[in-house]
Amino acid sequence: MNRKYRKTVIAGNWKMNKTPSETKEFMTQFKAIMPKGRWCDIALCVPAVCIPAAVRAMRETRVGIGAENVNANASGAYTGEIAANMLVDAGCKYVIIGHSERRAMGETDADVNAKVLAALEVGLVPIMCCGETLEQREAGITAEHIAMQIKLGLQGVSEDKIRKVVIAYEPIWAIGTGKTATPEQAEEVCESIRTVVRKLYSSKNARAISILYGGSMNEKNAYELLAQPDIDGGLIGGASLVPEKFVQIIEAANQPTV
Ligand code: 13P
Repeated sequence: MNRKYRKTVIAGNWKMNKTPSETKEFMTQFKAIMPKGRWCDIALCVPAVCIPAAVRAMRETRVGIGAENVNANASGAYTGEIAANMLVDAGCKYVIIGHSERRAMGETDADVNAKVLAALEVGLVPIMCCGETLEQREAGITAEHIAMQIKLGLQGVSEDKIRKVVIAYEPIWAIGTGKTATPEQAEEVCESIRTVVRKLYSSKNARAISILYGGSMNEKNAYELLAQPDIDGGLIGGASLVPEKFVQIIEAANQPTV
């Protein structure tokens, strides 16, 4: 992390876990032990039906609530879908876009791009995900694959909007497997992402965007991962479901930075 130039963001991704009642319970417990310091931004991205309960519970706090997906269209005949302005009206600040679990359901880079643009249009912070499979890593094409996802995902995002985008690097082989990328592996890719952004935008903006790591990040490995210069936070799955663990990860982000 480098707090001089960019924000540190600790974000939870609950995926398809917790009911609205369980959300309320979690928030009560989390609020009671939440660190008071302001060394990082805190986000919790929750299932759509849990958004109202999460927003209500966190109203007086600095925790931003987010969604896990959005439809790129503004409105219309898209049964079951949710538009970006609906998320804003419901109190969301963030939205995860292009998670590998959604890409596995058929979401393409073009879809991701349209969703990023839709989120930015209404002032939501898109947390745009990228990541390689184990096969791609073993074939030595991680950097190329990630560069392509970033370039396609950011198409049409203007120089003045790029700072709003948060990028999350999540190697697919590390998600929910307990297998974390080493700090060096994660840093190498996060640095390469910043290089791609620097080629597309100004150096100043490339330096200012937050790049998160995700994939079995937990209370034990967070400190070391967050100590890397280009890892500006975490996108946390399993460990964000337990208030004590999520708090310990937030605490791990409280470290001296260059
Ligand atoms: P885990 O932390 O459970 O591995 O999930 C990571 C993730 O996919 C966050 O978006």
